[in-house]
Amino acid sequence: MTSAQRGQPRFERLLVTGGAGFIGSCFARDVLARRDGTHITVLDKMTYAGNPANLAPITSDPEQAARFRLVVGDIADPAVVAPLVAQADAVINFAAESHVDRSILDPEAFLRTDVLGVHVLLEACRVEQTRAAAGHRERSPRFLQVSTDEVYGSVETGESREDDRLEPRSPYSAAKAAGELLVNSYVVTYGLDAVLTRGSNTYGPYQHPEKLIPLFLTNAIGDQQLPLYGDGLQRRDWLYVADHAGAIGHVLEHGVTGQAYNVGGGNERTNREIVTLLLDRLGKPWSLVRQVEDRPGHDRRYAMSSSKLAALGWQNKVTFEAGLAATIDWFAANDAWWRPIKSGEWETYYSRQYGARLAGSSKASQ
Ligand code: NAD
Ligand code: TYD
Repeated sequence: MTSAQRGQPRFERLLVTGGAGFIGSCFARDVLARRDGTHITVLDKMTYAGNPANLAPITSDPEQAARFRLVVGDIADPAVVAPLVAQADAVINFAAESHVDRSILDPEAFLRTDVLGVHVLLEACRVEQTRAAAGHRERSPRFLQVSTDEVYGSVETGESREDDRLEPRSPYSAAKAAGELLVNSYVVTYGLDAVLTRGSNTYGPYQHPEKLIPLFLTNAIGDQQLPLYGDGLQRRDWLYVADHAGAIGHVLEHGVTGQAYNVGGGNERTNREIVTLLLDRLGKPWSLVRQVEDRPGHDRRYAMSSSKLAALGWQNKVTFEAGLAATIDWFAANDAWWRPIKSGEWETYYSRQYGARLAGSSKASQ
């Protein structure tokens, strides 16, 4: 019998992989702040995207810190993963190389983490499933794979549903789709208890400044140019980070084994609309915006139906207006968090990604 069939499982010991990144750290902060006795181990490789400062609200609170542990290591390393999965009631895999532009520059790291890493986690869960069957632990761990709407590819019209074909178009989304297919294969072949979430474009405090909203916010605060790809009319569905993390927790508790759940924001906007909102709240001029060479293979639009998740009982709590205002104000007030990130490795990345683009850019019409 799977844990979902047994009713609503309560997971006391969570292994949160990639929990020092943007969404995983929000999940860890929010779960531990409930003070309900849940313990979290974060396993994170601390790549350029992993940041201990994202976990400071936990480590600076003695009660939460007592229920928290950070292990620095790679999800693709079985020797690191096996003992941690052995101690976990559930594994929530946020760990990934997550940025499309970096996947276009250097795809290999995406295959290692987003595909092989998922395989290593699944294998460790399979071992624990065997141990549970032999009576060496109460039940096998539940596995939740955090995936993305990008696996559906560009959606010109309508909304993606969970049983639509996966048509990824970037190395990032192809690697995430491959990770999903592996998860599904372990459910079908080994009867593993696993669920999937496909979140839409997420925004909020602590997001790495490589992504659109924090990049444009932090550049605009410093009166630097804002590199808008192509015509800027690409459309994304924006989801506030605490809602994304909350939906993942909800699927962990209530999701049916083997099922995928779309997590949309219900806030579709063009990139131009987003830039206008950011500049208006910061009181910065549109003249900062530069029209630059487009991203190769740029997906024009993502849009999903979240009705399956709604039927499971989840509703987002944060409106787009409130979430965006909170995000803008957080970045304006927390330059001590983002300024160190925009140095060192960042400078090399920034000049590879934007140097020639900005040199060949033109003024963006408003
Ligand atoms: P992020 O890049 O901010 O964080 C990723 C974290 O994973 C970092 O802390 C990094 O150090 C860690 N990591 C990378 N490789 C690792 C490895 N091999 N072993 C252990 N840790 C490793 O990413 P995010 O935006 O927080 O995204 C989290 C997850 O959500 C990803 O799986 C991503 O595909 C998915 N997702 C993100 C969005 C979005 O808009 N950001 C939307 C939908 C889905
Ligand atoms: P991004 O935050 O990279 O998320 P994703 O590609 O996963 O949707 O980009 C969001 C949108 O913003 C996407 O259409 C690409 C665009 N974009 C720019 O126009 N300029 C930029 O410098 C970046 C990073 C993104």
